[in-house]
Amino acid sequence: MTTIASPLAPRATALEVVQGIDLSGKTAVVTGASSGIGVETARALLTAGASVMLAVRDTQKGEKVAAELRESTGNQEARVIQLDLGSLAQVREGAGRILDAAPAIHILINNAGIMATPQGQTPDGFETQFGTNHLGHFLLTELLMPALLAAALARVVALSSSGHRRSDIVWDDINFEGRPYDRWDAYGQSKTANALFAVGLTQKYGARGVTANAVHPGGIMTGLQKHVSLEEQRAMGWQDESGGLNPVFKTTEEGASTTVWAATSPQLEGMGGLFLEDLQESTPLDPQNPDPMFGHKPYARDPGNAARLWALSKELVGDYR
Ligand SMILES: NC(=O)c1ccc[n+]([C@@H]2O[C@H](COP(=O)([O-])OP(=O)(O)OC[C@H]3O[C@@H](n4cnc5c(N)ncnc54)[C@H](OP(=O)(O)O)[C@@H]3O)[C@@H](O)[C@H]2O)c1
Repeated sequence: MTTIASPLAPRATALEVVQGIDLSGKTAVVTGASSGIGVETARALLTAGASVMLAVRDTQKGEKVAAELRESTGNQEARVIQLDLGSLAQVREGAGRILDAAPAIHILINNAGIMATPQGQTPDGFETQFGTNHLGHFLLTELLMPALLAAALARVVALSSSGHRRSDIVWDDINFEGRPYDRWDAYGQSKTANALFAVGLTQKYGARGVTANAVHPGGIMTGLQKHVSLEEQRAMGWQDESGGLNPVFKTTEEGASTTVWAATSPQLEGMGGLFLEDLQESTPLDPQNPDPMFGHKPYARDPGNAARLWALSKELVGDYR
């Protein structure tokens, strides 16, 4: 099977990925750019000359990040937009602010995310991780679609995770109403939804020039682990007793590289519905001999699953046209 791969090493940084790439005149939106790999994603896009909207829920935090990015990249086109993905009403408001500021969007990075949260529901009644990680981004992307279509060619990147392996979409109980809540299954389901979203978006809009790919960025210590206790992190082998990180963890600069590759590489022009990791196309996981780090479960790229999730998501978020 032929897969696409960057000529760079799997642990290259996002800044290495944009070397030689000119994004001047292009507009990018990065959700969750107030911390972690979203910041490094925005930094690389700004370095390549793009105008970047940092779509964040905490604008004070976002403004500090934007000021540092303007200073370090020399690109003054870092702008903060308020966006909370946890509520559909807030997504509608945030999308309106983005559309007011950008008639055309060339790159949309659906990066914001939460992981392993305690059981809860969004104000709209959805399980918190599915509601925030998937439905918030689904609605945002659909609302921004006129600006993506206006860009003529636009790329969307959906941050998934190797955590998708934990759960397919449980169609008859997405919100854990009839089964005990498991925060890792809920994260896994939401990350499978992110991967299927890339397939569904490309099915629906690919012929009109808007494509999406899913990315597993690798393991990176960021704000994402805040709901995972130190004891759990040690038990899972993420850290040792003295706080030493397992060497499989990437830096945030390395963690942003596959996202930035998906968003900018000429190698991926016009391509969508892929699952990317370590600067290459991922391969289906061998059920007999699963690699602990690399590979995706086929259900996360299944076209029928993707079409079903698209239709369901549309119904769940309600009218947006
Ligand atoms: N780090 C990893 O090992 C890893 C592995 C696989 C996949 N990923 C994925 O990579 C993405 C980025 O994660 P990260 O590691 O950079 O984590 P992070 O540092 O926690 O960043 C996540 C960002 O999402 C934002 N966010 C959370 N809830 C939001 C909401 N309701 N509305 C708007 N923004 C919200 C956070 O905002 P605040 O700053 O306000 O909290 C933060 O800026 C996530 O989608 C994650 O699932 C990460």
